[in-house]
Amino acid sequence: MKIVLIHGQNHKGSTCMIAQELAEKINDKTQGTSEIKEYFLPKDFDKPCMGCCTCFKEDLTKCPHYTKLEPLVTALLEADLIILESPVYVYHATGQMMSFLDHFGTWWVVHRPKAEMCKKQAVVIATAAGGGMKSTVKDMADSLEMWGISKIYKYGVGVQAVSPKEIPERIIKKIHKKTEKLSEAVCKNAGKQKMNHRGKKWFYLMRLAQKHFPPMEPDYSYWEEKGWHKKARPWKG
Ligand SMILES: Cc1cc2nc3c(=O)[nH]c(=O)nc-3n(C[C@H](O)[C@H](O)[C@H](O)COP(=O)(O)O)c2cc1C
Repeated sequence: MKIVLIHGQNHKGSTCMIAQELAEKINDKTQGTSEIKEYFLPKDFDKPCMGCCTCFKEDLTKCPHYTKLEPLVTALLEADLIILESPVYVYHATGQMMSFLDHFGTWWVVHRPKAEMCKKQAVVIATAAGGGMKSTVKDMADSLEMWGISKIYKYGVGVQAVSPKEIPERIIKKIHKKTEKLSEAVCKNAGKQKMNHRGKKWFYLMRLAQKHFPPMEPDYSYWEEKGWHKKARPWKG
């Protein structure tokens, strides 16, 4: 399985530890055949979106940051499993994780989604000292759902710590159990092709809007070329 981990911080703390543990367990379950790529933010991509809207008006490949972004784009498109992780910072994902995700507005199903997302799974992981896991997990899952990923697993955990060595033993045990369960689920669902419920709902709403309102380009032509105004669907074929 091709796995890409996007770490929402440069340091290897509790959240990174959980994400890496999960990837390793999946690698074990696939007899060591998995390929794991990792990117740390902001070390591997440090640009905030400039709001020029070139991606919406033209294409993501025309983004002023594309040269730096390209290795991460390629890794995301090639992956079978995307793992996004972030510590909770003031109840949300880190600024660098959000800045990174800002670059993928055109991948949302309401614009020009990538059909290959329907063949991928994703896991989002957040740790906090005590609170804010739900909103942080949602910050990342929003993008993955709207990219049309088939299945998204969400894991937020309060670790009562600011570094891995401080995490109480009973919580560590809980984390090992959860990564085991997640790795089993990911392996079991590998290769399934569908679009998650939220993404599908927005796909059909957009399809309706495109029928009844003046065409918004270049989105309309992209859908036309894919046959989505007719019978073709991103999750089929
Ligand atoms: C800037 C900053 C903001 C934080 N905000 C919260 C918060 O809102 N809620 C919380 O429970 N913990 C908060 N924490 C604590 C971390 O989320 C927590 O220790 C987390 O497990 C750290 O993960 P890491 O080891 O991967 O860096 C914050 C820490 C920092 C540095």
